[in-house]
Amino acid sequence: MKLTRVSALLLGFAALNVAAKELAEVDFERSPDALKRGAEVVTSVCMGCHSLHYIKYRDLQQVGFSSAELDKLRGTQGLDEPLLSATTDEMAIELFGLVPPDQSLLAKAREGGAHYIYTLLTSYEKDAKGNVSNLLFPGLRMPDVLDYASADIAQRAVLQQQVRDAAVFLEWASDPHAGERRRIGVYVLGYLVVLTFLLYLIKRRVWARLPPPVAR
Ligand code: HEC
Repeated sequence: MKLTRVSALLLGFAALNVAAKELAEVDFERSPDALKRGAEVVTSVCMGCHSLHYIKYRDLQQVGFSSAELDKLRGTQGLDEPLLSATTDEMAIELFGLVPPDQSLLAKAREGGAHYIYTLLTSYEKDAKGNVSNLLFPGLRMPDVLDYASADIAQRAVLQQQVRDAAVFLEWASDPHAGERRRIGVYVLGYLVVLTFLLYLIKRRVWARLPPPVAR
């Protein structure tokens, strides 16, 4: 069972390969507000099918979820449980023929990251017969979960915002410690500057004891 799940996950990842040039050009709002909105979209919509094995409920505090919001979201799940989809692997295989790829590393695993996720979700179109397909990723087995193909321009603007936010959240999820690393990096650089200065003072004291150079 374990093996089928792993191979199903790998298959899911291997199935699609897209050239970066086809991705939509879009500006992402990488703000705390966007991050939290994105987390709401992902936990309420995407988690219906996708899991985020490497993110725990507790981690969502970092994107601004209050304890009360977390309690509502996790129900009986513990704070240190990973974000698992409501759809079990067996159900998913029956429904889609594969387990939808884990979303916690998706932004890192795919070339284009957030742009890839945005492009994929906004590429659903309806043909003359009313059949919905994903133009950029024909044969994609993920249904048009946001009903993007039937939305008019105004509704699409709202959906595009939701997808941008979701992509920003998934980018965070693939590397939750990036911000912390940058903060620590600044301290490390400051420490090195101070250390360099102190070593310079020591060097001057030590060298002051040497006799002055002899002119040749
Ligand atoms: C109804 C179930 C379902 C929901 C809800 C859903 N997905 Fe999917 N998703 C799938 C399936 C199934 C696949 C695998 C498609 C394939 O490989 O053909 C998939 C694949 C993907 C992929 C492509 C992954 C890859 O291999 O490159 C992305 C990106 C994605 N989903 C993002 C999302 C986002 C973002 C949401 C929430 C807005 C979402 N999905 C909601 C079922 C779902």
